[in-house]
Amino acid sequence: MCGIVAYIGPKQAYPILINGLYRLEYRGYDSAGIAIFNEGINLYKCKGKVAELESFVKGKDITGNIGIAHTRWATHGEPSDVNAHPVSSYRKQLTLIHNGIIENYASLKEELTQRGYKFESQTDTEVLVNLIEDIKTKEGVDLVEAVKIALNQVIGAYAIVVMSHDQPDMLIAAKKGSPMVIGIGNDEYFVASDATPIVEHTTHVVYMNDEEVAVIRRNHELEIVTIRNEVKTPYVQELEMNLSALAKEGYEHFMLKEIYEQPRSVRDSMRGRLNARAGVVVLGGVIDFEQKLVSARRIIMVACGTSWHACLVGEYLFEDLTRIPVEVEYASEFRYRNPVIREDDIVIAISQSGETADTLAAIELAKSKGATILGICNVVGSSISRATHGGSFTHAGPEIGVASTKAFTAQVTILSLMALMIASKKGTISKSRYQQLLNEMEILPEKIEEALSSDATVLDISKKFKDARNFLYLGRGYNFPVALEGALKLKEISYIHAEGYPAAEMKHGPIALIDAHMPVVVIATNKGSYEKVISNIQEVKARNGIIIAVVTKGDKAVKTMADYIIEVPETEEMFVPILAVVPLQLLSYHIAVLRGCNVDQPRNLAKSVTVE
Ligand code: G6P
Repeated sequence: MCGIVAYIGPKQAYPILINGLYRLEYRGYDSAGIAIFNEGINLYKCKGKVAELESFVKGKDITGNIGIAHTRWATHGEPSDVNAHPVSSYRKQLTLIHNGIIENYASLKEELTQRGYKFESQTDTEVLVNLIEDIKTKEGVDLVEAVKIALNQVIGAYAIVVMSHDQPDMLIAAKKGSPMVIGIGNDEYFVASDATPIVEHTTHVVYMNDEEVAVIRRNHELEIVTIRNEVKTPYVQELEMNLSALAKEGYEHFMLKEIYEQPRSVRDSMRGRLNARAGVVVLGGVIDFEQKLVSARRIIMVACGTSWHACLVGEYLFEDLTRIPVEVEYASEFRYRNPVIREDDIVIAISQSGETADTLAAIELAKSKGATILGICNVVGSSISRATHGGSFTHAGPEIGVASTKAFTAQVTILSLMALMIASKKGTISKSRYQQLLNEMEILPEKIEEALSSDATVLDISKKFKDARNFLYLGRGYNFPVALEGALKLKEISYIHAEGYPAAEMKHGPIALIDAHMPVVVIATNKGSYEKVISNIQEVKARNGIIIAVVTKGDKAVKTMADYIIEVPETEEMFVPILAVVPLQLLSYHIAVLRGCNVDQPRNLAKSVTVE
C-alpha cells in the first residue's frame, strides 16, 4: 500500500504535492519521491519519511506546475532511494508512480530484458513503466494507447499516474484494485489515492473505477476511457467529509477500517502466490528453503502478542498438513531460557512490525546456533525481515490501530500457504485434498466479507455487555488460538479482564468463575471438536453462565443453548480462525467504543515494542 498524488494546473505543484504526501503518509512511510516538470523532469526521491524528502529537495529546482509524488510502503524491493517512486523508464521518456502489485512482473521483466531494457531497481513498477515505453516505441502509438495496451498485459493491482517528457501538459491515471480519486478545480486537476490531499483545494471529485484510464490535459475536459476502449462519462461527486475522516476512509477509527480491510488484505497476501486453477502455491522468498522445509525434523515458531497467536494456528496447520513437529515459543522466553536449537532446525519468526525487540533477539540467538530463519513480516525492510534468511511478506498494508487485526489474518494466510506448499512437496496430502483446500482458500476473502456482515448483531451484543467486568473466551483445536486472540483484543482496547482458554481446560479452574454475570464467548463452529464444545457450553449453562457463541451459518444445535449467536460462513476447519476472529475483533471494538476508550491508541500499549 502506497500513497500517490499528482497535480496539473496553473499553480506551483510542489506545495500541493508535498502537503498531499504528508496527508497520505499513513498509507506508507518507508520512502518518498516527487517529479516536477520544468523544461525537463526533475526527479527527487529518497528513503525515509516525507520530512526527509522535504529536507532533501531544499535548494533544488522544484518549480513547475505539473508533477507527481509518492509515499511508499514497500512490497517488491527493500525501501531504498533507488526503489522509491517516481520511477523513470529506461530511455527516460516516462516517469510513473504506482500503488499496487504487478503479479506477472517477472515474466514481463524477462521479455523486456531480452529486448535490451536495463533495470536499476527491484520494483515491479520499473517493469510497468518500461513496458509502456516499449509499447509506445515499438508500436508507434500515442501514450494513452500505450498505457491501455500495457495494462491489458498486466496481472495484478495498480493505481498509476504517468508523466511524459514529450507531452508535459498531460497526466495519465489508471487504476485496478487500488484506489484513485481525481479532484476537479478551476482549470486544475488533482489525482490521489484518497481525497485527503484534494479536499482543501476542491470538493468536486471523480472516483475512478477499475480498468479506467483518465486522460488529464491542461485546459481540457477530463476524459475517461476503459482499457478496452469504452468511453465513460466522468461522474462528479461532492465531497462532504473532513480530513481526518477521509484518512480513515469514513471509518470512525483506523482499527475498524483495518477490520473491514481484511477481505482485501487477505486477497493481497495470496495474490501472485496462490493459483487454485493451476493447483500451485509459490512463495518466492521461501522457494530456496523448500528442500530444507520438506526434510525438516522440527520447526520452531517465535513471536509476541497477536503474532504469537498466529504461530499457534501455524502449529496446528503445519502438524496437520506437513507432519513436521512444531514448537511455538514466546520470543521473550525463548531468548533467555537456554533452548535446544540444532543446525537442522527451522525457525519461523512472525512479526507485523518487523521491529519487536524480543523477536529480533530470538532470531539472533537461533541464528548463532546455525538454525535457518524464515520471517513472516508485514513491513518490508524492517529489522526482522533483514535479519532472516528468507520468508514471505504479508501484504496487509500499514496497520495503524495499535491492536493488531488485519496483520493476524494475513499471517495465518501465509502460514496456510506455506504449510500447503510443503505438504504437497512432501506428499503428506493427497492431490484431491490439496486441490480442495486451494479452492477453499481462494474464496476466503468473500467469506470474510460475509463474516463482516455480523457487525450489527455484534454491536447489539456489545451494548448488553459493555459493563461486564470479566469475559471468558473458549475454543478447541484451531479455535483455541482464536479464543486467546479474542480475549487479548478485548483486554487491549476496552480494559476489561478477559481470559482465553481451551474449552475443555475450563473444568480445571475457570469454571469456578462462572456465574450469571460472566459472559462466555465460545467459538463453536461445526468442524473438529464440535460435539465436545457443545458439552462445554452445557457445563457453562448449568452454572448460569451467559453464552455468546460464534457458530457456522445455519447451525441448529448451539442455537438452542446459547444466549447470543454470531454466524460465520462454513469453511474448512483449518481456515476457521481467519473467519471466526472477525466478529471477535468487532466485539472488542464496539465494547471499547461504547466504554469511551481510545481505540486506536489504547493506554500503556505501543504498536511496535522495540524494547525488551
Ligand atoms: C505489540 C502490539 C501487538 C503486537 C505485538 C507484536 O504488543 O501492540 O498488537 O501483536 O506487539 O508485534 P509484532 O509487530 O512483532 O507483530
